[in-house]
Amino acid sequence: MQLIKNLSIFIKILMMKKTQFSIEITNYTDKTDLDNSDNTLVNEAIAVCDNAYAPYSKFKVGAAVLLKNGEIITGTNQENAAYPSGLCAERTALFYANSKYPDVPVIAIAVVAKNNGNFTQEPVGPCGSCRQVILETETRFKTPIKIIMVGSEKISIIKNAKSLLPLSFSEDDLL
Ligand code: THU
Repeated sequence: MQLIKNLSIFIKILMMKKTQFSIEITNYTDKTDLDNSDNTLVNEAIAVCDNAYAPYSKFKVGAAVLLKNGEIITGTNQENAAYPSGLCAERTALFYANSKYPDVPVIAIAVVAKNNGNFTQEPVGPCGSCRQVILETETRFKTPIKIIMVGSEKISIIKNAKSLLPLSFSEDDLL
């Protein structure tokens, strides 16, 4: 009896279908290796980083969003004594970009961060909520958004938001 039970479990395991996701990440060691447009966007994100209002975490984030019309919109994280009321740099920039130009696709976003005054060595990835918002913009305009994550020793580029958020919640789930 036990043998049959074990055998049926074994067969079930063999029949299980697995799905794997992989992300293509392109890494650079210096921002001067980036193409001109990406380098400019990174410099804009760096330039605004100190404008962040981050008295609680001391973690300042700068984001720069490139629109298809060539305009760059920047944003920084804005914290609040009531912690959840704050907003990340990526969403500050994206919401403003989408408010100002509701018909213009976003094509790239660069993100940099300073921890206690020093640029992070490793690139900082957008948090889960920001990924969801970047993905919504990508889907809305049917245009991939390149994500450029910047650290002082490494820059990582991902081709689109979809690959940063597999199995995401989308408008299709609301149907
Ligand atoms: N933060 C961002 O602005 N972007 C991210 O992707 C990660 C986190 C901010 C939120 C908060 O103000 C501080 O960094 C520490 O979490």
